[in-house]
Amino acid sequence: MGKKGLGITITQHILSQQRQNPEATGAFTTLITELIVAAKVISREVNKAGLVDILGPTGKINVQDERVQKLDIFANQAIIERMQHIGQLWCMGSEEDPDLIEIPPQFPKGEYILFFDPLDGSSNIDVNISIGTIFGVFKKKNSGTTPDLLLDDVLQPGIKQVAAGYFVYGSSTIMVYTTGNNTGVHGFTLFPSVGEFLLSHENIRIPEKGKIYSVNEGNYVHWDKKTRALVDYFKTKDKETGRPYSTRYVGSLVADFHRNLLKGGIFMYPADKKDPKKPTGKLRLMVEANPLAMVVKEAGGYASDGHGPILNIEPTGLHQRTPLYIGSKQDVELAEAYISGKV
Ligand code: AHG
Ligand code: MN
Ligand code: MN
Repeated sequence: MGKKGLGITITQHILSQQRQNPEATGAFTTLITELIVAAKVISREVNKAGLVDILGPTGKINVQDERVQKLDIFANQAIIERMQHIGQLWCMGSEEDPDLIEIPPQFPKGEYILFFDPLDGSSNIDVNISIGTIFGVFKKKNSGTTPDLLLDDVLQPGIKQVAAGYFVYGSSTIMVYTTGNNTGVHGFTLFPSVGEFLLSHENIRIPEKGKIYSVNEGNYVHWDKKTRALVDYFKTKDKETGRPYSTRYVGSLVADFHRNLLKGGIFMYPADKKDPKKPTGKLRLMVEANPLAMVVKEAGGYASDGHGPILNIEPTGLHQRTPLYIGSKQDVELAEAYISGKV
């Protein structure tokens, strides 16, 4: 905090955005404000996890695995419990729930739909590497129609999101979000002593071209020729285009994405033949690719499935997966040229 006092809180920032964005009503402000409460609860639990795991209830070093699962579920429950009562949601969609999450009858419903990955990077919980929460917000498609929960009201292309963002629970807890319409991408850092997210990264812009590529090279044997050629491109020496790029990959999408957003670069999760059940790769369209695609586009970057914009994909299922190439515009456009066979 500077000498000037507290700085700009997230609530102040959202309210100022609300004034700029006529359709960003108080309902939307309520939604984001309550989501932040859930993130603070998750952040506290995630940071405590390390400690509990080391000391454990009996003080002995305890096996961590069940703790990892619990935090996924804890985060999922924390968001559902906070969000279901606010009266602004038609329903929710979570990575952790096979079906849509209904708003219990005792609470009023609203026009927004919240999609979220409650805990991204779960495999990193017990090795103290940053993990996070990813969220995207839509408006219900056919407002005022029958009260049933119709997938048709819910499954929309990412371009229809009215807001998106993520939290990273790392050395500090940060939140990055955008409400689109050229209002920019803004980052806030949690000051635990105050319990407030304060503006720390105003109007984030991703460099046109980066010097970092992020991909799990352990999947090389499972990729097709075009994908291998693309990754080999970033590793080939060529002074003019600043290659080879540096490789950075921590295995938490949200942490890899956030680093590339600030420094420039490309994150790739290509289609692979590793798991016949997931021919288009591991990442999910509605709760991972779409929200980050909105953020990166608003910051001047691009997100593609290798053939076209992620944000244009017409979803056919809640948990459908997609290849993801996301980051600096020039790098992602090059990736798209390789994967779609134009190179
Ligand atoms: P989640 O923990 O929500 O399932 O997400 C994990 C994802 C993503 O965070 C990360 O980029 C990717 O898994 C890493 O996958 P690999 O270990 O296959 O590289
Ligand atoms: Mn995830
Ligand atoms: Mn997850």
